[in-house]
Amino acid sequence: MNKILLHCRPGFEKDCAAEIQALAAEAGVYGYPRLENGSGFVLFEGYGENDGEQLMQTLAFDQLIFARSWFVVTAELAQMDPEDRISAVMAAAEGLPKAGKLWVESGDGDDYRSLLSFCRKFTVPLRQALRQNGLLTKNEKDKMPRIHLFLTDSANGYLGYSRSDNGSPFYMGIERLKFPADAPSRSTLKLDEAFSVFLTPEQQEQRVRSGMRAVDLGACPGGWTYQLVRRGMFVAAVDNGAMAQSLMETGQVSHHPVDGFKFEPEKPGNHWLVCDMVEKPDRVAQLMARWMIKGWCEQAIFNLKLPMKQRYASVCDCLNQLTDILQSAGVGCELKAKHLYHDREEITVYLRRLN
Ligand SMILES: C[S@@+](CC[C@H](N)C(=O)[O-])C[C@H]1O[C@@H](n2cnc3c(N)ncnc32)[C@H](O)[C@@H]1O
Repeated sequence: MNKILLHCRPGFEKDCAAEIQALAAEAGVYGYPRLENGSGFVLFEGYGENDGEQLMQTLAFDQLIFARSWFVVTAELAQMDPEDRISAVMAAAEGLPKAGKLWVESGDGDDYRSLLSFCRKFTVPLRQALRQNGLLTKNEKDKMPRIHLFLTDSANGYLGYSRSDNGSPFYMGIERLKFPADAPSRSTLKLDEAFSVFLTPEQQEQRVRSGMRAVDLGACPGGWTYQLVRRGMFVAAVDNGAMAQSLMETGQVSHHPVDGFKFEPEKPGNHWLVCDMVEKPDRVAQLMARWMIKGWCEQAIFNLKLPMKQRYASVCDCLNQLTDILQSAGVGCELKAKHLYHDREEITVYLRRLN
């Protein structure tokens, strides 16, 4: 069990690989990533026999920015007989812990559409076989390991498991969110997903409440403001563009047609700052640090647009710069970052002031 498999957005394999290699080395696990551009996954192979398990025990999944989901590989499946794939999987099932869920997965995206449909069909008999062999609970259980079968095609793949306390709770690491018909833009789902990825349901109850005050920099036409309004907040929407009339009519939104880099809030201590301005990532990071240091907001969610190349290295530079500025000012912050399912050439960051 020296391998782990990580899901990522197709096209971001190099970033996912660079990240796992760097974090594994920091954790004292040495190895190398294997990847194919556009495949939507990375395989990290450690030099030590149990490096896969070791990584799962020492690294926190939340630390990973580019991985959507991950699991320890316990067996590789090659050239499964199309007449009897179940026997091939069951023969390789040794080493799996008893699990509460089975996920038959593949890469994400159009190239995988027909394979994913096969995965769904194959789940049914495999689930039955695993249950009969006592490897899967009769009813799905959230707080138990999950068995993953990741297929690269209908004959080949990787079998393994993940822990429910250190991994994505979603099939292929993707939370399916419904687009609200009355939202003014598709990017509304980014903020919806960010709340759900960065905050547990209990934290959301405390930190995302009705009556809170929020500022939205680069707000137009209002997809992010929509999510704040939906949660009962009062929002200062900053953007030179036009806000959706439906949002203005709620009475919860004030529109400020000014530069988001120059805007200063009327009152400090806003509960939330969100920012989706298309700008250089270091400029945005510096702006977020300024708001935290000035005490203008308690928490922030913002996007950092990514360059085309060396994305992982640029993200590290930018986040390091942000934490350095905050540290020099004596401001303690919790920071989490993720390449969300609804993010494309950008990542989303959550920042919360601690002192
Ligand atoms: C990606 S869109 C935001 C979409 C928005 N979050 C939504 O969900 O509808 C980026 C917005 O940032 C605004 N923007 C870019 N630079 C800005 C600046 N310096 N100050 C204020 N707004 C800015 C643009 O006008 C644009 O409306």
